[in-house]
Amino acid sequence: MPTTDTLHARLASIGQDHLLRFAGTLKPAARAALLAQIESLPLAQVPDLVERYVRHSPEFPVPDRLGPAPYFPVDSASPRRPWDHLEARARGEELLGAGKVACFTVAGGQGTRLGFEGPKGCFPAGAVTGKPLFAIFAEGVQAAERRSRRTVPWYIMTSPLNHEATKAFFAANHYFGLDPAQVMMFPQGVMPSFEMGTGRMLLAAPGEVATNPDGHGGSISALAVSGALDDMHARGIEHISYFQVDNPLVRVIDPVFIGLHASGAGTSAEMSSKMIAKTGPGEKVGVFCISDARIMVIEYSDLPRHLAEERWEDGALKFIAGSPAIHLISVRFAAKLAGDPAFALPFHRAEKKVPYIDDHGRLVEPAKPNAVKLERFVFDAIPLCRGSIVLETRREDEFGPIKNATGVDSAESCRAMQTARAARWLEAAGVRVPRRADGTPDCTLEISPLTATSPEELDQARLPRAIEPGAKLAL
Ligand code: UTP
Repeated sequence: MPTTDTLHARLASIGQDHLLRFAGTLKPAARAALLAQIESLPLAQVPDLVERYVRHSPEFPVPDRLGPAPYFPVDSASPRRPWDHLEARARGEELLGAGKVACFTVAGGQGTRLGFEGPKGCFPAGAVTGKPLFAIFAEGVQAAERRSRRTVPWYIMTSPLNHEATKAFFAANHYFGLDPAQVMMFPQGVMPSFEMGTGRMLLAAPGEVATNPDGHGGSISALAVSGALDDMHARGIEHISYFQVDNPLVRVIDPVFIGLHASGAGTSAEMSSKMIAKTGPGEKVGVFCISDARIMVIEYSDLPRHLAEERWEDGALKFIAGSPAIHLISVRFAAKLAGDPAFALPFHRAEKKVPYIDDHGRLVEPAKPNAVKLERFVFDAIPLCRGSIVLETRREDEFGPIKNATGVDSAESCRAMQTARAARWLEAAGVRVPRRADGTPDCTLEISPLTATSPEELDQARLPRAIEPGAKLAL
């Protein structure tokens, strides 16, 4: 443990000694905690990070010869790129039956836009039942286990800010029927929050540096540091099914995607992705591109407008493949990256409102963004891998993110999507669903993953023949 003096000298040499301004006023234990926290920060990198990302807003270097990434169309019979759906499914089911696939949820984000008190995974998302996101995923895990007759381990990345609350939520809910031994939660790393303009690290309290989780890209290192990769090795896991905590529509385990990932690139791909067709050139999702035979995701704000707007002769967008942040990552690839001392995903800069303690010890709640937050994005690992496939999925089947309290990508829009999807599945199974004049279902519906994760899994014998207008039905 460094003394206050040695740490003070180190901090002074990088212009950050204000972090110890209140150290003398703290009780010994609080002072020791502050010194330990500062010591755990990447101090050697701070001057360079401040120069590159805080004082400047780096321009994204658009790669040469950027083209739209090739992908497997959702319709496997499409003449554009036909593929063997049955073979992919069989391969995926084989891997699942051999117990080689685990689920991985990234749940370390701060969820500031939603403004929900507590970890986002506790948010009541079920359209009818109000089931929390974590409960819906747990049912997805159980559904996969029933089909494969194997345990599907579930890894959840939290952050130091929500780790204990997440653990307590699972304990209070008896792990939603799962065996606690199959659920592993671990916190991701953090980065200090920097004051815009000055580049000074902010204090959240007199004895605490303000930090933010280091982005979903922090998951690769966190998987290694936490021991999760070792645990996967011990259990014989080969592929990680990665998804975000805010998307209750996701198929947490998709045999077809797993099979295609494991064989669609000739040999097994290292990191694969699902894609959804963008609604238009301006939709705010990352876009799958290719340059020098490397697949990559380019953030919507970094894709030059003329490319985003380019169209084929039939009018379809060229750069159409949007990212719903659903991936498969091979355990070997994650271990290779995390074990490489030179491995580091790039940082992305975001301007945020971060409350802080000013030089007089007063708490300031900024009215506008005052800080720069640095995050890594998991999709930046894709260009580092040897093989990668992209599989199209239908937005209406698998992408209903809850980002905002209301409006676009909100709890409300997600509930409407759950109902719309259930209505389509039920109608395909012969159930009469009431619809309003505008075509939307005149009812609220929710289908648990335990009932079905695709229309084919619905058991017609257990379905009603018709649904009453205005009904609320959870199946
Ligand atoms: P978002 O980009 O939506 O960020 O995360 P967020 O922090 O949850 O929400 P806002 O921007 O503050 O409103 C996408 C996914 O990545 C996870 C989130 O939990 C979510 O599942 N994530 C994000 C992490 O696990 N760690 C992070 O540091 C950031």
